[in-house]
Amino acid sequence: MSQKREQWGSKMGFILAAIGSAVGLGNIWRYPYLVYSNGGGAFLVPYFIAIFTAGIPLIILEYGFGHKYRGSAPLAFAKSSKKWEWLGWWPSITSFVILTYYTIILSWAMNYLYFSFSQGWGSDTNGFFFNEFLRVSSGPFDLGGMRWPIFICITILWLINWFICYRGVSGGIEKANKILLPTLFVIMVIIVVRGVTLPGATVGLNKLFTPDWSKVLDPKVWINAYGQVFYSLSLAMGILITYSSYLPSKTDINNSAFITAFANCGFELLSAIGVFAILGFMATSQGVPVDEVASQSIGLAFVVFPKVFSMMGSLGKMFGILFFTCLVFAGITSCVSLIEAFSAAVIDKTGASRKKIVSFAALGGYLISVMYATGAGLYFLDIVDAFINSYSVVVVGLGEAIVLGWFLGAHTIREHTNEVSIYRVGKWWDVMIKFVTPTILTYMLIQNIVTEIKSPYGGYPMSALLSFGWGVVALIVVIAIIASKRPWKNNELQVNTFKEVE
Ligand code: PHE
Repeated sequence: MSQKREQWGSKMGFILAAIGSAVGLGNIWRYPYLVYSNGGGAFLVPYFIAIFTAGIPLIILEYGFGHKYRGSAPLAFAKSSKKWEWLGWWPSITSFVILTYYTIILSWAMNYLYFSFSQGWGSDTNGFFFNEFLRVSSGPFDLGGMRWPIFICITILWLINWFICYRGVSGGIEKANKILLPTLFVIMVIIVVRGVTLPGATVGLNKLFTPDWSKVLDPKVWINAYGQVFYSLSLAMGILITYSSYLPSKTDINNSAFITAFANCGFELLSAIGVFAILGFMATSQGVPVDEVASQSIGLAFVVFPKVFSMMGSLGKMFGILFFTCLVFAGITSCVSLIEAFSAAVIDKTGASRKKIVSFAALGGYLISVMYATGAGLYFLDIVDAFINSYSVVVVGLGEAIVLGWFLGAHTIREHTNEVSIYRVGKWWDVMIKFVTPTILTYMLIQNIVTEIKSPYGGYPMSALLSFGWGVVALIVVIAIIASKRPWKNNELQVNTFKEVE
């Protein structure tokens, strides 16, 4: 049975949803530190080059591919050639795996949102987070107990995720993004404006932006720039392919790609300013250099920031509430895109109803998430995330560039997007897709493998890396191959592409 493909209510809704996917934890807690530790202002050079040579070209590629073939990643690949269907399943299943732990981080943020009202983390924020809140066990094979506050919040988060996706593309995803994203932006602006007026803010900002030009010559800095652009724009996850498959036939693709990239990049710069203004304040009030307080990811959000918020007294309560709300909102819009990339793939393949598939996906994802709510959760999360980012994303990105660029022909997608867009991309785009992106990703992959062989990730025992790292990546590939061998229950595969219809 073929159902009519759902559509966005408006192009604005589509763009907001794509930005919602892009703007996430990576913007708030990863980017600021990345700039700071990779040459400050000088980092902007590799960063913008990465946006123009890989970020925007790949968004156009994914948008164009999803739009032309009107399908989630597996359907779009299967329509272009049945033998590449597995390459569409790989990112879709990876999306599902990411979801299982992305929600856990959000559930910590939700707990901290609650703590913000009373600043319940006390004065030793580090000890509180690891020993009292997470109660981290002795190692990845020691589950420890269930952390009920985390369990409660993941239950709430999965219900929210489920509810949004259950209601469909325009009634759920689009609506949620239209509410969450502008609110997120307003909150971030409040944080930044109040943040830069704090005493000592300029110390932090100077530290953040003062360029260290020597870093521009370091290949690692370039790898970091490309890595951030990939992660931050939610590339190679099947998300953008899926989202653009819900667009009407006449819609400006190239323009949308630029808007998505610039909006995400603007939000990144905004949060970098906010974060470093606050860090500058902290360093100044403690009389220590910024280097001593600068941090990223978990350490920034759950250790350093709670400490600053406590130092600020009642103003800190406001900052805490706003900051953790930001994390939760930014995270939910990313989670929704991950569920959609996975569910759309299954819906396309089986022809089953959205309501059924989304409910099963949410229930399955929820049950797996519960594992991370134990004392060993932090270890699982750390290992799975590292391997997915080092291998899954890089290999899928490489696969997309090679298969679509060389086998399908970059020009077919370029011609398609140019036909519907006002701004036409030239042959430079083919060069980026066929040569530049694959070269960078291959280099990245080799680097990652060499580093992993030299020093296995995070000093974990090999058994843990094999089961939660290599094992999970291998399992994703195996499931992808099996899924691609199953017959299509939905006659979507027979539905023509736009090109042929016209
Ligand atoms: N782009 C998101 C961020 O910056 C992370 C993400 C990656 C979300 C892949 C969905 C898929 O945080």
